[in-house]
Amino acid sequence: MRSKYQIYERIAQFYDFVDLPSEYLRYRQIRPQLFVGLEGRILDAGVGTGRNIPFYPRQNQVVGIDLSPAMLARARVRKVRIGSGVDLREMDVCKTDFPDGFFDAVVSTFLFCVLDDSLQLPALRELARISRRGGLIRLLEYSLPANPVHRFVMKRVWTPWVRWLYGAAFDRNTEQYLGAAGLQLIERRFVYGDIIKLITVTHT
Ligand SMILES: C[S@@+](CC[C@H](N)C(=O)[O-])C[C@H]1O[C@@H](n2cnc3c(N)ncnc32)[C@H](O)[C@@H]1O
Repeated sequence: MRSKYQIYERIAQFYDFVDLPSEYLRYRQIRPQLFVGLEGRILDAGVGTGRNIPFYPRQNQVVGIDLSPAMLARARVRKVRIGSGVDLREMDVCKTDFPDGFFDAVVSTFLFCVLDDSLQLPALRELARISRRGGLIRLLEYSLPANPVHRFVMKRVWTPWVRWLYGAAFDRNTEQYLGAAGLQLIERRFVYGDIIKLITVTHT
């Protein structure tokens, strides 16, 4: 099986192009909501090609980490084009170099749908460790719709495609690991139909 590293090294050059319809029809309207009320030192975990960069709150220190150097190279181009001060670093979200409680807030968009089930808890634990107590962690993730027809289509048509292309799944159920990671759910709401959810948690 290809590792996530291999998948994103391969797809980096096409990523923004392949994702363009979703970015313009869905994500662009949603991304600003991730940063509402966030300030201080912010981590963008799984920064990818830097799609969140235009929405980072000004005057705040943002660090973006990603496993894939090729994705980060794209993010660096975007950073320069936009004139952002984001600090981009190659790092695994499950094992970062940051000290305990380093970040005031963490955002992560479509990272947990990519992480295998065995990595969900280690990744959440690491985000909890490097967040200050009371700091917010916001995760934007996909889930399967309730409508049986939509659910069938998403499972049978879209799931094999996103698994092959991005190594992603729509049914990770990240919330089940929150308690074990020492995180508390503050809010969970759908921001696009009932397939994209914004989960806000805090480090207890
Ligand atoms: C679907 S992309 C999302 C990128 C970006 N956040 C966005 O909203 O477009 C998932 C990203 O997570 C990164 N990734 C996967 N596993 C990772 C890990 N263990 N640590 C850090 N980044 C990882 C991939 O390299 C990829 O850039």
